[in-house]
Amino acid sequence: MQANSSSEAVQVHISLAERSYPILIGSKLLGCALTYENLPAAATALVVSNTTVAPLYAEPLMQALQARYGRVLLVTLPDGEIYKDWATLQLIFDALLESGCDRKTVLFALGGGVVGDMTGFAAASYMRGVPFVQIPTTLLAQVDSSVGGKTGINHPLGKNMIGAFYQPLLVVCDLDVLTTLPPRELSAGLAEVIKYGPIADMLFFEWIEAHLDALLAKEPTALSHAIQRSCEIKARVVSQDERESGLRAILNFGHTFGHAIESGMGYGNWLHGEGVGCGMVMAAHLSQQLGLVDSRFVERLTSLIRRAGLPVKGPVLSTTDNAGRYLELMRIDKKSEAGEIRFVLIEGPGKASVRTAPDALVRKVIDACCA
Ligand code: NAD
Ligand code: GLY
Repeated sequence: MQANSSSEAVQVHISLAERSYPILIGSKLLGCALTYENLPAAATALVVSNTTVAPLYAEPLMQALQARYGRVLLVTLPDGEIYKDWATLQLIFDALLESGCDRKTVLFALGGGVVGDMTGFAAASYMRGVPFVQIPTTLLAQVDSSVGGKTGINHPLGKNMIGAFYQPLLVVCDLDVLTTLPPRELSAGLAEVIKYGPIADMLFFEWIEAHLDALLAKEPTALSHAIQRSCEIKARVVSQDERESGLRAILNFGHTFGHAIESGMGYGNWLHGEGVGCGMVMAAHLSQQLGLVDSRFVERLTSLIRRAGLPVKGPVLSTTDNAGRYLELMRIDKKSEAGEIRFVLIEGPGKASVRTAPDALVRKVIDACCA
């Protein structure tokens, strides 16, 4: 990769007082030493990646970091959502301790959302907190998971149930890494891009409808705009509600149903973005059942999600009581209060809120939406 100047990149800013940071979006950023010029000096940088991404991108990153850090180390994790667990997290701590890393060590998360969430959690807890940088390599991670400081791991009983809010120092979205991203992962990322429309910006939704083919063809200008607008919306929400005491929950549109699908099917069988895509369809149906949106809105959203290559019918999680199984799984959700499920619903195009719904109505939606 040739060097580029980070000053040529598009910048989106996350405003969080002393925890503020930039998101850089552009080409040829990952392997350019200038990208990292404002990071704090330290003796050691530890790059955390996985067995798929490290062979593709660790070398140019490590070369670029050599200009700034005396030692640049690499720890390579097994790849997959099933490894987003304690045992794999321990590999990061093993590497840090075995190499004598001090509390100024900077961690670099090089990978998709799984690597990013785990590296962030390791950074939040190693020596009670060391700095870290997100270098997201999937579309999903560039438009969502690398931004906003949610870090953590899964528990067999619930998705992302163990973690911390911990902000990175910098997010580097290099468009070039998306060239190697498999189509199924691209579609999964598009689910999180589409999400921003119904909850915050229907003009963006219209733009996605018009540019979906360009996005699926990985046209850099279209990808750049999608990443920039997604990050701008997320930045606005996170800057107002960093720790999800209210507004930030809207970013979980589709996630209540989606997380139930992911954990109910066994982590890794449905991709996170696939669960979210299908979950948005189900949440839109629930919004319609509650009289918040009309059927045209539901059909429009479903059609875009289908065109993005995502499933729009939920899987059957139980042959005896499918809706009951969904309800059971959805109760293990961070938004639940006193066992009551709270859904992100669309109140009208571009506006979302968190609400409860009668079980009978939720059952009706699940029965109608599962294949
Ligand atoms: P992922 O990290 O599993 O990556 C998907 C696959 O693509 C993996 O096999 C990975 O190795 C591979 N890959 C990554 N970059 C590649 C590249 N450039 N070329 C080729 N292959 C590449 O999945 P994801 O969709 O990036 O992230 C999903 C995770 O993110 C879930 O665990 C989800 O809970 C989490 N998430 C977190 C937040 C947050 O706010 N922290 C938000 C959304 C999702
Ligand atoms: N992905 C949801 C959030 O960051 O809040």
